[in-house]
Amino acid sequence: VSNMLSDSFGRQHTYLRISLSERCNLRCQYCMPAEGVELTPTPQLLTPNEIVRLANLFVSSGVSKIRLTGGEPTIRKDIEEICLQLSSLSGLKTLAMTTNGITLANKLPRLKECGLSLLNISLDTLVPAKFEFMSRRKGHDRVMKAIDAAIELGYNPVKVNCVVMRGFNDDEICDFVELTREKPINIRFIEFMPFDGNVWKVKKLVPYSEMMDIVVKQFTGLERIKDDPTETAKNFRIDGHRGTVSFITSMTEHFCAGCNRLRLLADGNFKVCLFGPSEVSLRDPLRSGADDNELREIIGAAVKRKKASHAGMFDIAKTPNRPMIHIGG
Ligand code: GTP
Ligand code: 5AD
Ligand code: SF4
Repeated sequence: VSNMLSDSFGRQHTYLRISLSERCNLRCQYCMPAEGVELTPTPQLLTPNEIVRLANLFVSSGVSKIRLTGGEPTIRKDIEEICLQLSSLSGLKTLAMTTNGITLANKLPRLKECGLSLLNISLDTLVPAKFEFMSRRKGHDRVMKAIDAAIELGYNPVKVNCVVMRGFNDDEICDFVELTREKPINIRFIEFMPFDGNVWKVKKLVPYSEMMDIVVKQFTGLERIKDDPTETAKNFRIDGHRGTVSFITSMTEHFCAGCNRLRLLADGNFKVCLFGPSEVSLRDPLRSGADDNELREIIGAAVKRKKASHAGMFDIAKTPNRPMIHIGG
């Protein structure tokens, strides 16, 4: 592993999240404002060749896992081609995607052939009318079908991301857990995080401790599964359930000490922390002819500026960042 990807706290960054689009076919309230967000003009977005060139540079420097995000990654017409090219980079072990599942069911067999090996699907409610309220679009049934299609195709576990918001879906936590009894899925309850334009309020955040109280009141035999130190999730098995349950506690128990994640945004900006406002363009030097070594220097310097952890939820909420839809989580 090269020096380029290690930071001043000794963390090795082996996981690159690439946002493939600033657009989405949903309008989720926790991710973007109703009026939408500013879109980068197309000529300023990375081309597929540029994405692959940069990904290759990261992989040859020690990245072994790439996750495709958005916006919504599956709305790109060239998503299969991009998956094919990225999955063939030598040294890459995992090609993952985080998607809202809306158009996934049909595309999935082909995406699997193109090397997509891990799948996280977002689903915040089991009630279609609430889905429509939160996402400002229809499509609950299509997401449910996508989850089943992913199980059918052998993705194991299929991870289901559920952002928990007080007054919206905190009454559904046990229903989600109940799903894991028969389905081999990993339900991940995520603490609501502040991003530009998502009207975050601390009272809408349901802390991990509170979610846990709700679950253990209803279910017995919860057992912590030892997770990787770089993981975002705290994982639990439940006696008699085929699936598992996890909590992503970004706000009340951050996991920055084990962070191995870097981000490349659709406009070519490189972001070393989800909540770090500082970004550096890789697109500009790339387009003015920088060679791999020059790019490595720019990347390495940015990684060295990465902070030990995020600033805490109240400071984060006050610091300008991007809307979530631009970052991809
Ligand atoms: P796996 O690779 O399957 O473990 O997924 P992941 O948790 O890395 O990615 P996913 O896109 O499924 O994100 C799930 C939740 O974790 C989202 O709310 C993300 O915003 C959040 N998340 C992912 N990476 C980070 C991170 O580096 N820091 C923080 N604070 N949250 C993160
Ligand atoms: N807080 C927590 N998680 C969020 N996500 C989107 N916005 C937020 C937020 N404000 C989740 C999405 C997706 C993942 C990439 O991040 O639901 O599953
Ligand atoms: Fe890593 Fe920043 Fe997320 Fe902490 S908040 S885990 S440092 S990306």
